[in-house]
Amino acid sequence: MANVILKPEWHVPEKEITPVKDYFSRRDFVKTMGLGVGLASVGSVQAGAQAKLFPARRNPKYNPKIALTNKQWATGYNNFYEFTTSKEYVRFLVGKFKTNPWQVEVSGLCNKPFKFDAHEMMQKIGLEERVYRFRCVEAWSMIVPWTGYQLNKLLKMAEPKNDAKYVKFYTAMKPKEMPGLARLPSYPWPYTEGLRIDEAMHQLTFMATGIYGEAMPKQNGAPLRLVVPWKYGYKSIKSIVKIEFTNKQPDTLWNSLAPKEYPFESNVNPAVPHPRWSQASERMIGPNPIRVKTVKYNGYSQVAGLYK
Ligand code: MTE
Repeated sequence: MANVILKPEWHVPEKEITPVKDYFSRRDFVKTMGLGVGLASVGSVQAGAQAKLFPARRNPKYNPKIALTNKQWATGYNNFYEFTTSKEYVRFLVGKFKTNPWQVEVSGLCNKPFKFDAHEMMQKIGLEERVYRFRCVEAWSMIVPWTGYQLNKLLKMAEPKNDAKYVKFYTAMKPKEMPGLARLPSYPWPYTEGLRIDEAMHQLTFMATGIYGEAMPKQNGAPLRLVVPWKYGYKSIKSIVKIEFTNKQPDTLWNSLAPKEYPFESNVNPAVPHPRWSQASERMIGPNPIRVKTVKYNGYSQVAGLYK
């Protein structure tokens, strides 16, 4: 367990990781991506009733007007440890993962706990598109058009009580559909994450149900996943089945495994290195990756007031 805790695969220093560019050129980029696109589209196609939800109108308020990351990279280079620790292979292993119908429970310290179907809720709340910068703790980043709804629209339906200080999120745990679970038996599954209630209620905090104008591909966290753009990507938990209001800071998977490496707050901050690598810059993924300076709160300075 100690070894696993200290050395999960994503802790490999970036300099030791095969550049994805090289990986794909070695493996015949065209062939690999061709297969990837085939599987990705199987993953992303939802029932016919979904079709009119996508693409959703882009909200001009959340549009940094910078070049988007190549779609095949954003949907082909994934962290989803329930399937595999190999980013390039997640999309090949999600075939058995059933994401429709999908029930989510909202419970804990609230006046109106409820359960909902993920696809019905998309219809009920309505969807918009937001372009966000996304920064992984591993020092890579992307710029992605997410479709979804502001998380607080959902949370308010439950009428959280005054003593609800945190929100805990749980990913589905389906061992028969998620081959990676058995390969990391010492991890405290299911994958969990948490936010302070004011962070969860912030207008930037987004429940994403799609990407690039289509329903969410399974490898990106279908049918609904969090996107918290000023925090490292591990806070953006995928394939959520439960949302719980709590009065104590919740345990989360990465924080339980290695609290010094993955703090609960985990705001993007170039001045605070990860214990084993710098966070001063990041590699923007794509066919021609570029290295750019990392910016505090990933550039979302409007959240600074939350941390005074
Ligand atoms: N959620 C679950 N359930 N399992 C995971 O392994 N990985 C996290 C986050 N959410 C992860 C998860 C990490 S480390 C990152 S960087 C992002 O998902 C990656 O999202 P993407 O694959 O859509 O780029």
